[in-house]
Amino acid sequence: MSSFVVQHNPHVLPAADRERLMADPGFGKVFSDHMAWAAWTPERGWHDRSIRPYGPLQLDPASAIFHYGQEVFEGLKAYRHADSSVWAFRPEMNAARMAASATRLALPPLSEGDFLDSIQALVETDRDWVPGGEEQSFYLRPFMIGVTPAMAVKPSRHVLYAVIGSPSSPYFEAGVRPVSIWLTRTYARAGAGGTGAAKCGGNYASSMAAQLEAESQGCDQVAFVDAGSPASVEELGGMNIMAVTRDGELHTPQLTGTILPGVTRASILDIAADHGLRVVERRIPVSSLLDDIDAGTVAELFACGTAAVITPISQLKDDSGVHRVGDGQAGPMTLELRQHLTDLQYGRRPDDRGWLR
Ligand code: COI
Repeated sequence: MSSFVVQHNPHVLPAADRERLMADPGFGKVFSDHMAWAAWTPERGWHDRSIRPYGPLQLDPASAIFHYGQEVFEGLKAYRHADSSVWAFRPEMNAARMAASATRLALPPLSEGDFLDSIQALVETDRDWVPGGEEQSFYLRPFMIGVTPAMAVKPSRHVLYAVIGSPSSPYFEAGVRPVSIWLTRTYARAGAGGTGAAKCGGNYASSMAAQLEAESQGCDQVAFVDAGSPASVEELGGMNIMAVTRDGELHTPQLTGTILPGVTRASILDIAADHGLRVVERRIPVSSLLDDIDAGTVAELFACGTAAVITPISQLKDDSGVHRVGDGQAGPMTLELRQHLTDLQYGRRPDDRGWLR
């Protein structure tokens, strides 16, 4: 039995309003009636596990989160299948990553059991908010914040964990339209020993100026490179990157501690062999990637993540100019992998790997 006690929201949205919002929700803009909740102190450990009405939080303005950004979060999705059953995709992986991120940010890790219970209890309570439309899902956003009101830079002794849920359309509104990428040399995302492998708000806050730079260059998204010599590609502002070579290899930056270990990334690497692809995790120098794109040796490039799913990349741009990938359209292997992954998630093919819960 779940340890999350349900306190029902007495003011749930009327069904007609909910359905109107869910018809075209966009990404992460609409939120369901409840949220999962737990609190931590060193004396009591995790306690107050509950499902409670979604609503504003009242926090002391001196809380650590506001000053030092002591925060970690996760992103995962629940999918409605044709028989109306609802399934989360590999939530154990999010539980493990959140625990690792929390440890890096000096926050108390939540057990896998509590993480899974919180997800299950919220999805069960707000089941009607799980959309069933094409490519729609219930995006779940667990997060943990340090709220001790004190100006000293040290770990919070009061911590909150919550999960909010959002009926969502795909992150990129145009679906599988290929996106263009700007390779920034102005900004870095992470360095050795930093927080690059943790899913913490600071990494995303610091990507925003770089994202603005990308947009000023006429690109959709930004990609970061590492501090190595030669500089190698790391990841985009909020997703991993992969390249398909002409001779059937799938290349992606290796996990060096500065890159987010994506659940979608790991899942694609796992299913790649089913599509005759040999996986190569390595450092990918920018110069050789651009040369390989120009020569056609890299035939396809795509971004991947929970929110982005698999999104084709049409071109990379940097100070050397524009490097178009193939014909700039979504490549056949990109679409094949995307189909495989989404068929699994939406229950259109057997869950042979036991990834749905
Ligand atoms: C996710 O893919 O779940 C993320 O957290 C990335 C963000 C760009 C929405």
